[in-house]
Amino acid sequence: MSTVQPPKPYLTGHYAPVADEHTVTALRVRGTLPPELTGRYFRNGHNPRPGVTPTHWFRGSGMIHGLRLRDGRAEWYRNRWVRTPAFEHDAPLMREDGSIDLAASVAGTHIIEHAGRLLALQEANLPFEVTPELDTVGAYDFGGKLTTAMTAHPKEDPVTGELHFFAYSPFPPHLIYYVASADGALIRSEVVEGAGPSLMHDFAITENHVVWLDLSVVFDPAEHSGIPYRWSDAYAPRIGVMPRTGPARTTWYEVEPGALLHVTNASEDAQGRITVEGPRYDRAAWETSWKWWVGAPGHPNTPLTGALGTRWTLDPATGKATEEAVDDLTTEFPTINDERLGRANRYGYAVAFPGAGLEEYALVKYDSATGARQLMPVGPGVMPGEAVFVPAEGGTAEDHGYLLTITSDIVRDTSELLVVDATDLSRDPIAVVELPRRVPGGIHGSWIPDTDLS
Ligand SMILES: [Fe+2]
Repeated sequence: MSTVQPPKPYLTGHYAPVADEHTVTALRVRGTLPPELTGRYFRNGHNPRPGVTPTHWFRGSGMIHGLRLRDGRAEWYRNRWVRTPAFEHDAPLMREDGSIDLAASVAGTHIIEHAGRLLALQEANLPFEVTPELDTVGAYDFGGKLTTAMTAHPKEDPVTGELHFFAYSPFPPHLIYYVASADGALIRSEVVEGAGPSLMHDFAITENHVVWLDLSVVFDPAEHSGIPYRWSDAYAPRIGVMPRTGPARTTWYEVEPGALLHVTNASEDAQGRITVEGPRYDRAAWETSWKWWVGAPGHPNTPLTGALGTRWTLDPATGKATEEAVDDLTTEFPTINDERLGRANRYGYAVAFPGAGLEEYALVKYDSATGARQLMPVGPGVMPGEAVFVPAEGGTAEDHGYLLTITSDIVRDTSELLVVDATDLSRDPIAVVELPRRVPGGIHGSWIPDTDLS
């Protein structure tokens, strides 16, 4: 007797994939789109082909949803799969001879712009370059200089324009640090000594340092979901601090067991103390969320459960780390005004998930100066995506700007791009762009102003 498997949560509800690619022009806008928002909003996410059931949420083919805004108009929406070997002919990451095909990516985690180039990223692979119209150019290896994978969370220094990034691996060398110059040349590659085989989805930079997250989720070949990592109580979790310039001597700080997918930001003070913030998972939160990511029995209703805002302070004078909770909501996809990246930021934004006192999804804004938290409900049955901050032209305060987020409404089977005034989340959105159909819940994206592509 055959058993019917329940559908995977990442193929249903908000995450039900779309079956094809559309291009639609002249979208309807409610409210007024600020003319200064002239550029593109691109958002990546996992969207398997029809009939394909990946073994893990993160293994679904990458699809980018894009909106072209210009002079107060929403000129087009289009969605395109990233045409990688994994998408075109299911090429595996590991070839039959055991070597790794770094181009066998689903390229479904993020899309960024650097030095005028658009890169779709997935951390086990090379980046994939796409055009401003979302056609795939191909794998990008910095002119042959990048011979490893590249994180999906590179950091562009807002002052120098350099792109800092890394590769991590279950096999030595476990961690390699890279810097690309503002004009896109790979100028530095350095093995980080002392790093272990942990899952490093993100990292942080400050003005003078790089921060490594060597935490409690580590390589485990017994995990067969296709993402071979598991929580380990036996692993000694650490946060590493490395000078950005000079030799790569990393100071490792012992921390409590935990896992972090995303850093909100990090900064350093005059005494050299480093502060790092982000939504932290304990073992139960990680393993519960993982059940959703693989569609295991008893999985929760939302993809993320129990990640709580946490701040670590690393003090070189004592060699100790201290850890404090900064909030009691489950949040993820933290964002800031990236002009503050690596510097002390006052404001942070995130998606708040149902659970722990919240019945529906919301956007949330934090003010670290006052401790205030402002929630923006988006309505029953509606899920907002990562809220990307776009600074306002001539803005004089850190929060003068817009939050861009694509919603998924499973009641009305629609999606919208919300343009929200970041100074006050209690106001109605400044503009709402009506999308031609529902956009599945996704991962990360970027606002790419035309000035960055010229
Ligand atoms: Fe991420």
